[in-house]
Amino acid sequence: MKSFYIETFGCQMNVHDSEKVIGTLMQRGYNQVETADHADLVLFNTCSIRDKAEQKVFNRLQHHKKGGAKQVVGLLGCVAQQEGEKVFERAPHVSLVVGSASYTKLPELLVRIEQGERRVTGLSLDTDETFETPLTRRDNPFRAFLTIIEGCDKSCAYCVVPYTRGPERSRTLASVLDEVKKLVDTGYTEITLLGQNVNSYRDPSATQANFAQLLAAVGQVPGIRRVRFTTSHPRDFTKDIIDAIDDVPTLCNHIHLPVQSGSTRILEAMQRQYSIDQYMQRIEWMKNARRKMAITTDLIVGFPGETEAEFQETLNLMDVVGYDGIFSFKYSPRPNTPALHMVDAVPEEEKGRRLLRLVEHQRTILIRNNAAYVGSVEEVHVEYFNNATGQWVGKSMQHKTVNFTHPEGPSARLEGTYLDVLVTRSGVASLVGEAMEEAVAV
Ligand code: 5AD
Ligand code: SF4
Repeated sequence: MKSFYIETFGCQMNVHDSEKVIGTLMQRGYNQVETADHADLVLFNTCSIRDKAEQKVFNRLQHHKKGGAKQVVGLLGCVAQQEGEKVFERAPHVSLVVGSASYTKLPELLVRIEQGERRVTGLSLDTDETFETPLTRRDNPFRAFLTIIEGCDKSCAYCVVPYTRGPERSRTLASVLDEVKKLVDTGYTEITLLGQNVNSYRDPSATQANFAQLLAAVGQVPGIRRVRFTTSHPRDFTKDIIDAIDDVPTLCNHIHLPVQSGSTRILEAMQRQYSIDQYMQRIEWMKNARRKMAITTDLIVGFPGETEAEFQETLNLMDVVGYDGIFSFKYSPRPNTPALHMVDAVPEEEKGRRLLRLVEHQRTILIRNNAAYVGSVEEVHVEYFNNATGQWVGKSMQHKTVNFTHPEGPSARLEGTYLDVLVTRSGVASLVGEAMEEAVAV
């Protein structure tokens, strides 16, 4: 039996792609091992969203000592797609280079490798296929990822993804629901629907269901307790998504809606296709939802031409929205993207200063936001017992981390259960509480 080792960089989409690749390999009789040393096949599933991410991949590749002459080293994912055949020059010990839009071809590419072909690529972006495997091994025992749409048809000026993941293609509603039911049968109660832009989902079969309809259908599958989704695009985010969350209690009251900048001028330069007024209209829908919504976002500082005043518009937006979490990044020029040759670059040190100011600002917002939960009861999906703190750890419906004590401590065996926790304290990164006395793990 052949063995393989896989290491994953980047986003949740990549993590889930790896799970599917693992499924494909296991179906072909490969056996997964935990170290690269003696594996027959070593795979790196890569990310190129920012230059640092890409450097990390090449550093890792340079440090990988080939385990024997016969070991096959393969590069998957976004760096593979972006660099293509150039990978063979930069890293001559690599013999397989495959972008995510070609994963359906993996079995045949592997056959060619098994037959001794030295350099094999899968780099076509011209596809209408989605990567579906009957057997996907999931890393997290309680929470499953599920892809509903692949690729991206937007052209944000800074972003490599349209060039690394290809055009948008949605899976059929029937195949999504079928997978959800199978996940429930194997014990999963929480699902995260994935796509670069889930809001532009459209069932390619006769129902033509849109994202809100798919969401409602998934949330109503018997046995499902929580449904999350990421990532949304403000331009395609419609009110019916909030209506669905209002109507279906399993749909989590947390929305990740990347804004990138608080300045309409910068948004235009980024080719984001919305203004701050339009973004705020979406936020209003969320603020008027039946349940209190947690709102999180992505922010880029130092996009070419961003002035101090425009940066302050971002700080101001953070206050107005009151985000429950931000992922913030320094702008990083990427190959092939329209922004690559934009002039008026913001100096690296200034980007660094702006990033720090954002993070510091967000701390104050989080302290204020989280304090409002003290005294409330949150349903927690429990993940593990932290021996260092003597607390159980889990996530609330709004995706807040909750650390809590239970009279029985670690012997309560709460992993994977849902239970009500009374919040007694709050911090920047988490809520702290106690399991409710009458709470029974379910
Ligand atoms: N530079 C910095 N941040 C970027 N992102 C995407 N491309 C870049 C880039 N070139 C950020 C965006 C996106 C998140 C996944 O990564 O904020 O939403
Ligand atoms: Fe990285 Fe974007 Fe590719 Fe995900 S889609 S792996 S974030 S470059």
